[in-house]
Amino acid sequence: MKFTLKPTDITEIESDAVIFFSFDTTLANLIKEPFPFAKILKRAVEQEKYQAEFSKTLIISSPPESSAYKLMIVGLGKEDEFDYIKLQEAVGQAVSECRKIKARKITISIMEDWMKKLSPTTAVQAVVEAVILASYSFHKFKSSSSSETVTIEEVVLSAAPARLSAAEEGLRIGQIYAEAVIFARDLVNNPPQLTTPTYLAKTAEAIAKSSKDEIKVKILDQKEITKLGMNAFLGVSRGSDEPPKFIRLHYKPGNPKKKIVIAGKGITFDTGGLSLKDAKNMETMKLDMAGAAAVLSVFQVLSKLDSSYEVVGLIAACENMPSGKALKPGDILKAINGKTIEVLNTDAEGRLTLADVLSYSKDIEKADEIIDLATLTGACVVALGEDIAGLWGSNDKFLEIFEECAKLAGEKLWRMPLYAGYKDLIKSHIADVKNIGGKWGGAITASLFLHEFAGSTPWIHLDIAGPAYCEKNTPLSPIGGTGYGVRLLLRYLTSS
Ligand code: BES
Ligand code: ZN
Ligand code: ZN
Repeated sequence: MKFTLKPTDITEIESDAVIFFSFDTTLANLIKEPFPFAKILKRAVEQEKYQAEFSKTLIISSPPESSAYKLMIVGLGKEDEFDYIKLQEAVGQAVSECRKIKARKITISIMEDWMKKLSPTTAVQAVVEAVILASYSFHKFKSSSSSETVTIEEVVLSAAPARLSAAEEGLRIGQIYAEAVIFARDLVNNPPQLTTPTYLAKTAEAIAKSSKDEIKVKILDQKEITKLGMNAFLGVSRGSDEPPKFIRLHYKPGNPKKKIVIAGKGITFDTGGLSLKDAKNMETMKLDMAGAAAVLSVFQVLSKLDSSYEVVGLIAACENMPSGKALKPGDILKAINGKTIEVLNTDAEGRLTLADVLSYSKDIEKADEIIDLATLTGACVVALGEDIAGLWGSNDKFLEIFEECAKLAGEKLWRMPLYAGYKDLIKSHIADVKNIGGKWGGAITASLFLHEFAGSTPWIHLDIAGPAYCEKNTPLSPIGGTGYGVRLLLRYLTSS
């Protein structure tokens, strides 16, 4: 998809659709001279009693001599509710309308009204990301070119001349962020027979190779993992014929401000192990490496962005399979930090692999901060639904900054309690902790379990079991992996 930035008069740009956006209260400005196409927009707005409600579109055929085939107004609704996410959803809606009219070249008017809430750079970034993400499709496993759907090939962004340099930066960053999100979506959407732990390791190696030495990679095999004592991780991997891989990616700028570990749950397929899932719940379990996919995707673009932090990406990649060698309910595993874990349900495997990763981050990496992303619990999806990630952490300041980044990255999350009162629920009578809690509050007890291993290091845990994957088409993502968390991590890692 080609983007160009133009300060030119919008009425002169040749395109299939020219798209304007409007709040309900600013519609009057859009249909008033000297606004381009004002007369024709006015007629349609009045005729159809259009009020620019959020996400409502009005499509107008333009006169034959016009440079545009169609004109479109996309409603932004109430101005005081407007933010990064709202803008992206509206753009996503516009893209889906463009698909219907088979528009190949579109022009988007960057509206001055947005700048009251968003900086020009951020606004343009939001638009660019949204156009690319809304246009994404995954069809490489279709045998015929059944993708007859017309895709947008060219996007002209029309901005006020004074906004051009900021818009240029927004365009650059938006393209990089979207590239990373798409990288994650592809990884999650690939079938699990392809996306094995070895495949993730090879992907990490390819990322390092293409970074021209800015990113270093280290892959530990089963023998080395055993030597380190990561027995919780190895316990999960035991039932599988695929060898586990411990992946470490490393980015270090000159004089880094701090060292941040980003860790992603990397279960390349979760059958539940001997605590086997039923067929329905297993259908989408290739998604269980979405956290790992987000980490890899961040490194895919990190050297193109200015991060002043040392960033380490860690992934304990393995499959969770039942077999004669598999982990059994009742088994006790000793994690790398010496803590013993009674395994009562082999389907609560993510926290076992993360126990070793978090301890490693704290004791061996000596990280200043740890962020983990994990498709950890169905309970989190029950609590927050499919759109919103659960956020836990041990440090309020860190959580606040992270929440701000989420707002600016268009990623939905909600802070949840790391309620110490539930710690008794993960006490084992035979080991230090057990890997399941009681009947209720499963996402909280899972977080408390992780906290045991992150210890005193400032730590954030994102349970992305809901938003990592969407089961229906949405304006910004088709069915499948969403690439959740990538933009949030990139925002955080490039914040000051
Ligand atoms: N990978 C699943 C969590 C999950 C569920 C992700 C739905 C995405 C969608 C995880 O390993 C799991 O199975 N968790 C169990 C924990 C339980 C056994 C304590 C769960 O949530 O049921
Ligand atoms: Zn599981
Ligand atoms: Zn899992």
